[in-house]
Amino acid sequence: MMNLTLKIWRQANATTKGEMVTYPIENVSPDMSFLEMMDVLNEQLINKGIDPVAFDHDCREGICGMCSMYINGEAHGPDRFVTTCQLHMRKFKDGETITIEPFRANAFPVVKDLAVDRSAFDRIQHAGGFVSVNTSGNTQDANNIPIDKHDADKAFDAATCIGCGACVASCKNASAMLFVSAKVSQYALLPQGKVEATDRVLNMVKQMDDEGFGNCTNTGACEVECPKGISLENIARMNREYLFATAKG
Ligand code: SF4
Ligand code: FES
Repeated sequence: MMNLTLKIWRQANATTKGEMVTYPIENVSPDMSFLEMMDVLNEQLINKGIDPVAFDHDCREGICGMCSMYINGEAHGPDRFVTTCQLHMRKFKDGETITIEPFRANAFPVVKDLAVDRSAFDRIQHAGGFVSVNTSGNTQDANNIPIDKHDADKAFDAATCIGCGACVASCKNASAMLFVSAKVSQYALLPQGKVEATDRVLNMVKQMDDEGFGNCTNTGACEVECPKGISLENIARMNREYLFATAKG
């Protein structure tokens, strides 16, 4: 069992000032996930009549992209290719002090404590992250369209982006390029995505800029911290798609 000191960002709502608050926590099992450890803390806080720490979570298995903590200066903590819900306490040492902050970016305002509003990502997705399908009954079976295996694999890799926002939180410019490029790429690589490709990339990039995300300066922090290993190659592909679309337009 481990005893830890947690330094956690507490902020009542988007308009109030936040501060780091220190909480000791005892008897943490190394086999607990990070969120289970937070559950234990919250139980203890509730028993003491203290407001529990708000944080986002849903699937708790690395799929939904909801969990979003910045742990010891890294999005989703010190492990690689895992989300906060998949991070285990065995990655920390007994007696360690752990600093826990929300994902920080102007486009992700704090809702409360560690929970931030990532609806900007939804609006970017709504601007073009889809394929329009004919539902008249004459829809072509997607399996009848031959797709090069390498393209299919790359599209699948891009589609593994869970929209967690770690790329934004890790970027010194709070750029959303890795997320948006993954969403553009997953369609750009497939024949089904070609029809709306021009509008898609123009509209998604415009929405990204309107939401106030910063510019990409190729520092690569996003790729390092992405729990799904989304490659910078997608940003290069999106830039090509964008250039092609503007040249056409
Ligand atoms: S690119 Fe990676 S870090 Fe960014 S939203 Fe997608 S999964 Fe999260
Ligand atoms: S809670 Fe779903 S990815 Fe972490």
